[in-house]
Amino acid sequence: MAASKKILVTGATGQIAYSLLFRLASGELFGASQEIDLHLYDLPEMEGGLKGVKMELEDSCFPELRSIIIGTDFEKAAEGIDLAFMLGAKPRGAGMERKDLLGENSKIFVQQGKGLNKAAKKEALILVVGNPCNTNALICLDNAPNLSPKQFFAMTMLDQLRGECALAEHLKARPQDIEGFTIFGNHSNNLVPDYTHARFMQKSLLEAIPDEKWLQGPFCEKVQKRGAEIIAARGKSSAASAASAAIRQMRSILFSDPQERSFSAGVFSEKNPYGIDPALIYSFPIIADGNGRWRYKKFDRLSPWLSEKMAISEKELIEERNLVRSK
Ligand SMILES: NC(=O)c1ccc[n+]([C@@H]2O[C@H](COP(=O)([O-])OP(=O)(O)OC[C@H]3O[C@@H](n4cnc5c(N)ncnc54)[C@H](O)[C@@H]3O)[C@@H](O)[C@H]2O)c1
Repeated sequence: MAASKKILVTGATGQIAYSLLFRLASGELFGASQEIDLHLYDLPEMEGGLKGVKMELEDSCFPELRSIIIGTDFEKAAEGIDLAFMLGAKPRGAGMERKDLLGENSKIFVQQGKGLNKAAKKEALILVVGNPCNTNALICLDNAPNLSPKQFFAMTMLDQLRGECALAEHLKARPQDIEGFTIFGNHSNNLVPDYTHARFMQKSLLEAIPDEKWLQGPFCEKVQKRGAEIIAARGKSSAASAASAAIRQMRSILFSDPQERSFSAGVFSEKNPYGIDPALIYSFPIIADGNGRWRYKKFDRLSPWLSEKMAISEKELIEERNLVRSK
C-alpha cells in the first residue's frame, strides 16, 4: 500500500467539514487502497467540537482512516501534510463592510500561509474554500514562498457544477453530457459562467440553446445567485454540496483525465493566455497532468460579452488585492 496521505482540514468543526470529513475518511478522494491521516484544525474555542468530530470519525471505523490528529496550533496541524482543504474563515457579520471582511480574513491567511510554508510538504496542494476564497488563496501563497504558487487553488467547482446542472435542467439532459463549461474570474457575484465554449453531446451548446438572452440573463444570474437562494431556502449556507464540490475539485487537480477535459479552478494567473493581470488567483479552465501540475486550456476566441465580464471580475480581484495589501 502507498504511504498514507496526510490531509489537513481547517474550520474542521464547521458545517462543510461535517460532511467533507466523513467522505474523505470513507475513501472518496483516493479510493479504497489508500490510507489517510486527518489533521483537523480549528480555533482554540472550538476544541470541544474538534474532540466530538474525532470521536464520531473513530466510531465510524473507516478502514482507510489510519489516524486523526486534532489541534488548535496551525503549524503543528500542518506538519508534513500532502493536501489541505482550507475551510476555516471569518464569516461576514451583520453590518460588516466587505473591506473589513477582507481585512479579517487576510490576517488568518497570512498566518496560515506562513504555517504551511514551514510545516507542509514542499509539494503539498492547497485548496482554499473559505471566502473570499480567491483573495484568501492569494494571501496564503504570498506568505508561503517555499511552495510554488501553482500549488494553490481557490474553489470554483461548486459554481461550475451549479451551472452544468442548470443547463442540463434546461435541456432535460444529464449534467455529464455538458463539457467545457467554465467559470472565469472571482468566486463572487461577478463570477463569469462561460457558456460560449461549452459543448452538449459533442456539439456547441449554442446549437442546443441558441437563446443567448436567456444564457446571459436568467442562466448567469441563477449560477451567480444560487448560494443566496440556498441560504434563503435553508436558513444556512450550502454545506453538503460545497463538500461534494471540494472533493470533485481536489480529484480533478490530483488525477489526470484521459480525454484531457478542462475544469474550473482559481489558480495563480501568472503567464495566463487570456491577458488577465498576472498576480491574481483567478478562475480559468485548466487541465491537470496527474502529478500535481496543471496547464491552462486556451480558448482562441473570446466573445465581446465574455471579455467584458472577465474584465469586471478581474477589476474586482485587483481591488480586493489592493485592499488587503494596503492593510
Ligand atoms: N468557494 C466556495 O464555493 C464556497 C462554498 C460554500 C462555502 N464557502 C465558504 O467556506 C467557508 C466555510 O463554510 P462553513 O459553512 O463550513 O462555515 P462555518 O461557519 O460552519 O464554519 C467555519 C469554520 O471556520 C472556523 N474558523 C473561523 N475562523 C477561523 C480561523 N481563523 N482559522 C481556522 N478556522 C476558523 C470556525 O471556527 C468554523 O469551524 C465559509 O467561508 C464559506 O463562505 C465557500
